[in-house]
Amino acid sequence: MTIETKKELTPEILEFIETCKTREHPDSYLIAVLHKVQGEFGYLSRDHMDEVAHLLGIPTAYVFGVATFYHFFRLKPQGRYSISVCLGTACFVKGADRVLESFKNELGIEMGETTKDGVFSLTNTRCLGVCGLAPVVMVNDKVYGQVTPQQVPEILNRIRTEIDSEADQTDLE
Ligand code: FES
Repeated sequence: MTIETKKELTPEILEFIETCKTREHPDSYLIAVLHKVQGEFGYLSRDHMDEVAHLLGIPTAYVFGVATFYHFFRLKPQGRYSISVCLGTACFVKGADRVLESFKNELGIEMGETTKDGVFSLTNTRCLGVCGLAPVVMVNDKVYGQVTPQQVPEILNRIRTEIDSEADQTDLE
């Protein structure tokens, strides 16, 4: 699987921007616009930020500043499986940093990166609200509790098996 990096903004997003431009301070809708772009493409590419800036009539540097200020905006493509290791206090005390190291070693990527095949992204987060399960790892919407560094290869293998069986299913169709 390869990651596509250049795609046009969708008609829905362009329409939303047009609506914003009819309002009194179009630039105040920047965050809402960026949310829509990230929701559609999974991250904010340089091209998209340029285009949003152009369409809203504001400097790209301003758009980039907002995108980098808020941690929920991503500036790089995300993998199909987003692995988020909780580094909140309870998880950290229970060894989340070692779990994170194990993911880095197994995947051969650093925090904030995506594997070359576009399957896994690695990130961290603060308290997910399930401290009783510390240390906690979230893979897309699935929560893994009391994760040890030794379990990391097993978690990744389970996901890879899932991907393989999906591919087999597709072959049969
Ligand atoms: S600190 Fe990790 S879930 Fe609360």
